[in-house]
Amino acid sequence: MTKTPIITARDVDVFYGQKQALDKINLEIPENKVTSLIGPSGCGKTTFLRCINRMNDLVDICRVEGEIKIADQDIYAANVDVVALRSQVGMVFQKPNPFPKSIFDNVAYGPRIHGLTSSKAEMEELVEWSLIKAGLWEEVKDRLQETGTGLSGGQQQRLCIARAIAVKPRVVLMDEPCSALDPIATAIIEELIDELRKNFTIIIVTHSMQQAARVSQRTAFFHMGNLVESGPTKTIFTSPKDERTQNYITGRIG
Ligand SMILES: Nc1ncnc2c1ncn2[C@@H]1O[C@H](COP(=O)(O)OP(=O)(O)OP(=O)(O)O)[C@@H](O)[C@H]1O
Ligand SMILES: [Mg+2]
Repeated sequence: MTKTPIITARDVDVFYGQKQALDKINLEIPENKVTSLIGPSGCGKTTFLRCINRMNDLVDICRVEGEIKIADQDIYAANVDVVALRSQVGMVFQKPNPFPKSIFDNVAYGPRIHGLTSSKAEMEELVEWSLIKAGLWEEVKDRLQETGTGLSGGQQQRLCIARAIAVKPRVVLMDEPCSALDPIATAIIEELIDELRKNFTIIIVTHSMQQAARVSQRTAFFHMGNLVESGPTKTIFTSPKDERTQNYITGRIG
């Protein structure tokens, strides 16, 4: 990789109690690119994603070892403010999960907590910016006070993306963000992901090989807790080095 990576994982091990879920993961994630994490169910994709914003801290039996740096900051160091870290590393989940609040308040939620704006006008501007970036503004600008849960699934997912980017994170983690959506809503989100990478670094977990090929510049293949290989998406899909990758992308395992 030519540019310094924004995220560097070194020898990351993750355990749930006695059970090891990830084994010595070494991965570099470049800035302003989309990186796909692929691999069979249970291989540790979500576990790895959740290491990057320390969401695994919330799982009592989970232990993370090794080192993860974001822009040279060791995010597991004792002095790290986890709330601040999570504002730098946003997350979008598989199932759209807007708060039972208005569309406006869903987006304003993070900026309010982190005190990012100093006036009503500034907040309105930030909410509009986030909804425009998330490709939702035109559809909701006349109904910002309506509840977010009243939107369609695809709109809800874009609302969750707007909510994640409203605090201007550096990294956005997406765990199978389209798996609950129809093909049209999926296509809209995929286009959006490509647009978002101008401003953010995106890591997306997907079970769709087509999706990984369409949206990501880099791909990492996980298998049974190991990172088997990673590299440019094209290389992973056309000339993988490892037989396990080959088998997975051709549908022989998974
Ligand atoms: N909270 C937890 N407690 C105990 N074990 C867990 C927990 N979360 C995950 N695991 C285990 O860790 C391993 C990796 O799980 P993970 O959810 O990261 O897989 P995944 O690749 O995201 O799978 P999928 O594609 O099905 O979402 C699995 O064996 C799983 O059972
Ligand atoms: Mg998962």
